[in-house]
Amino acid sequence: MSTQPSSLPLLEIAKVILNENSSSQSLHQALDSFGSLCSQITGIIPDQTFSAWAEDSFLENGVAINPQAAAHCITDYQRSIVFIRGVYAALIHIQKTSDNTAIKILYAGCGPFATLLLPILGMFHTDDLEVYLLDIHQKSLDSVRKLLTHFGLNQYRITLLQNDACTYQHPNNLHLIIAETMQKSLEQEPQFAVTANLGPQLHEHGIFIPQNIEVQLCLASLEYERDIVSHYQQIDHKALVKKGKRHPLGTVLNLKPSFAAAQLKNAHYNPLTEKFELEPVKVSIPKIKELNTFDALFLTHIKVFKHYQLDDYESEITLPLKCQTLTDLKAEAKHLISYQLGNYPRFNIDEDISN
Ligand SMILES: C[S@@+](CC[C@H](N)C(=O)[O-])C[C@H]1O[C@@H](n2cnc3c(N)ncnc32)[C@H](O)[C@@H]1O
Repeated sequence: MSTQPSSLPLLEIAKVILNENSSSQSLHQALDSFGSLCSQITGIIPDQTFSAWAEDSFLENGVAINPQAAAHCITDYQRSIVFIRGVYAALIHIQKTSDNTAIKILYAGCGPFATLLLPILGMFHTDDLEVYLLDIHQKSLDSVRKLLTHFGLNQYRITLLQNDACTYQHPNNLHLIIAETMQKSLEQEPQFAVTANLGPQLHEHGIFIPQNIEVQLCLASLEYERDIVSHYQQIDHKALVKKGKRHPLGTVLNLKPSFAAAQLKNAHYNPLTEKFELEPVKVSIPKIKELNTFDALFLTHIKVFKHYQLDDYESEITLPLKCQTLTDLKAEAKHLISYQLGNYPRFNIDEDISN
């Protein structure tokens, strides 16, 4: 018979996070309690300053941040809440729509606290799940092991894997894959390569979290927008476009788990950068008044699962990023924007001299 071990106060924390009526104060408190509980148990102290950078791993496909910095991700509150709710909703969806076999979950880049899954694990029966927690850092996996023991979760079928998510091959198809190995505008960390490798390993009815990440290039004033966000806590993209305060230039990357492997296959080698790049996207600078007051911004939008989404300014990983190579904007100039793969993923901008 399957059991459902109690893991209070973990379950209390999970209930607050999943309750759509929880105030932001109680949501922050719940995540802070989870973080400090995990720190007490594992000795891993979240490091905001990233001063522990020496423990980062510089992989072929991007930087894997160190366990202290990964632990700190929990305080990107809206990110953590939307991802945890999305993971929970995806699990319920899979339970409702699939046969009675255990749901195979791969959580790639789980970090030291397995933040996006561990709080809600106790809400499922032990027989219902088969969980694989993977990270490149053994220190993070050792930390997760301590947490599983402390929270009484060892009855679950959980395998810890020290591996590179950009090359890891699971022996069979997975029902749920969770991967959050990214920074804003998909710079520096290996989210693209992780998605390209793991996407094809999903069961045909499986769910990959996040379901989609879109990066747009847009003309806007960062200072003006920051001012709006400081007053109203959010941005209304459509209203800003209507008022002429935002001029979208185009989608420069659409990362979908089902297409990423094909995008990777079509990548071409750039002899100048000595890196592979995805197909470039053409953008042209519009002829608008006071062009010099605009910044070229990379905007990141994340669809975690269904309506669980993260928009501009809602989280650290969806903050706009100023494009440093497009500072001198020229009306009607044409540019090629290519996403560069390799050890430091980022966007490259070239002049489009094709016509
Ligand atoms: C941004 S942190 C997120 C941590 C945690 N999942 C969370 O959401 O709070 C990314 C984690 O992914 C791991 N990671 C990054 N690239 C990886 C790779 N190629 N293979 C395995 N782990 C990786 C890092 O070590 C780090 O623990």
